[in-house]
Amino acid sequence: MKIAIIGTGYVGLVTGACFAEFGHEVTCIDIDESKISLLQQKQVPIYEPGLDMLVRKNLDARRLRFTTDFVPGIPEAQVVFIAVGTPASRRGDGYADLSYVYDAARRLAPHLEGYTVVVNKSTVPIGTARQVARILSEVNPEADFHVASNPEFLREGAAINDFMRPDRVVLGVDSPRAEEVLKAMYRPLYLIETPFVITNIETAELIKYAANAFLATKISFINEIANLCEEVGADVQGVAKGMGLDGRIGRKFLHAGPGYGGSCFPKDTQALLRIAQEHGVACRIVESVVEVNAAQKARMVRKIRKALGGDEAGKTVAVLGLSFKPETDDIRDAPSITILSTLLEHGAAIRAHDPQAVEEARKVLPQATYCSDPYEACRGADAVVLMTEWNEYRALDLDRVKSLLKEPVFIDLRNVYKLPSMKEAGFRYYSVGRPCVGDGLVG
Ligand code: UGA
Repeated sequence: MKIAIIGTGYVGLVTGACFAEFGHEVTCIDIDESKISLLQQKQVPIYEPGLDMLVRKNLDARRLRFTTDFVPGIPEAQVVFIAVGTPASRRGDGYADLSYVYDAARRLAPHLEGYTVVVNKSTVPIGTARQVARILSEVNPEADFHVASNPEFLREGAAINDFMRPDRVVLGVDSPRAEEVLKAMYRPLYLIETPFVITNIETAELIKYAANAFLATKISFINEIANLCEEVGADVQGVAKGMGLDGRIGRKFLHAGPGYGGSCFPKDTQALLRIAQEHGVACRIVESVVEVNAAQKARMVRKIRKALGGDEAGKTVAVLGLSFKPETDDIRDAPSITILSTLLEHGAAIRAHDPQAVEEARKVLPQATYCSDPYEACRGADAVVLMTEWNEYRALDLDRVKSLLKEPVFIDLRNVYKLPSMKEAGFRYYSVGRPCVGDGLVG
């Protein structure tokens, strides 16, 4: 099958490479010439494990091509995906900015030939697919097409696996013909018995927001429980395990930490609130989820301050991990940015390490010193903060860390280390929702 994808950002690129791997002929289109020329030279502009290999392999097999031209990719495609960005609107009101989606629709419309299914892959407010249909018909009244919604559930860092072995595929369609085309496109997943949720377009659009808001809810919930654990002397990892073993609750997404970040949860929870508000519906739980997440980052600053003896001014803090989660160089809405900006504002010096995100972080936090390895970051610092749980921080040489620090203070915002081993290593150890080690205090 011939597929065209507009937008070679994170979602478009992963989707394109994976469909090519399924054996389809995929044309990826982007207006960004420098990005397309990099991709044509088999260079992938983002860090995502396994993606560069997939892009190279399918370029070599000629199942994948990158271009800035809509022709011949669009006219020959049976399915055209719109996978452009939907950033938060510049007005700062929580709405998603749909101008890229509508612009893509306007530009692709004149090139539609034969029957085509135009699929929204971007996360978009309810009603967007119908608006895309209106634009396509307006610009090209002759076009023979249906629109559909096929939200993506890829996690950064695990995107290839999430695409190839998804928990489910959601297809929002309002025509049997479009449904047949999309089912044929996803046939490889039918063969591995992936559940398909085939529903109307509005339901598919809302599933994406509801799923992300629910996952964010689990995180804010466990973060509040973690805060309570610190006060009553309980251990949040035990609480999460005890709760999560109940099949109705599930163990995933109950890791307490510095709050969720990234390009999805913060933006999508805000957008869901706006959509609900527009329709006059209360969404109090999601409202609280957003507030709790902001409060959690502020709480982490207070935790670090307390560990530094009550004041960060003039202190040096080593920071391990800057990306919003491991296996990505993405720092969008990362808790590290809010937390470190506050510490810097209050006169702390930062020595930071991250396996992938330094280049991005440098643009946002130019005042920090960036180090080439975690031990270098610890040299001469008053405390070390483990901010993102990259694998390379899971088995640090603790004696070496301790010998490099001015004070043996370890603040683990991801609960990576076990309390007894930190006690044995002689650290004052603070984590999230677990008793503190080494200073007799809780939290
Ligand atoms: C999320 C969803 O998991 C994907 O299903 C969805 O497709 C994607 O958003 C999207 O809308 O495009 P992603 O943002 O890549 O994926 O990252 P997650 O793995 O979900 O993590 C999000 C944040 O939550 C991270 O900051 C992570 O550290 C935090 N988190 C996650 C916790 O603090 N605790 C947990 O238990 C799990």
